[in-house]
Amino acid sequence: MRRLACLCLAVAALLLGAALAPGAPPKESPVAGAERRSRAMSGRELYVAYCASCHGLEGLGDGPAAEAMRMRPTDLTQLSHRYGGRFPTARVQRLLGGVEGLPAHGGKRMPVWGPVFIPLSPADGQAAALVDRLVHYLESLQKPPGGR
Ligand code: HEC
Repeated sequence: MRRLACLCLAVAALLLGAALAPGAPPKESPVAGAERRSRAMSGRELYVAYCASCHGLEGLGDGPAAEAMRMRPTDLTQLSHRYGGRFPTARVQRLLGGVEGLPAHGGKRMPVWGPVFIPLSPADGQAAALVDRLVHYLESLQKPPGGR
């Protein structure tokens, strides 16, 4: 009888241990995972991940999805030229951060690149840092009209 009680206690302890043991860490959501990976990306990598499918690997507006669009994606190497010779930093910041939207980008609330660049609060430095990296990369692509 005593032995049985001992056995029962041991089994109970084992079960309790299994229930309390820290299991695998909770799985990260795909969105959170994408955001975490994005934080380690350079401007060029962010561009290739989120913009190149439409705007093309070199920014010329000739990405693989461009053909399927009714509107031609803008040639991003000509942004400065189109904006009077000055790179439109504030405009691009607003487009990425969800302050302004383009229908071709899915509008403000559902940008085609997802929520990565939208700050969670006005003090969200991480989103702002990603936007800055991508803006600097786009600025580095600028070419004179007709120039390659
Ligand atoms: C689904 C395709 C698609 C993706 C992905 C996309 N764009 Fe665009 N983008 C377009 C199209 C189409 C236009 C032209 C829209 C128009 O003229 O109204 C455009 C226009 C622009 C413009 C010009 C805005 C202006 O002031 O005239 C900028 C800047 C731009 N995109 C930046 C980006 C950046 C940066 C990314 C990645 C974070 C990106 N786009 C991803 C399709 C796309």
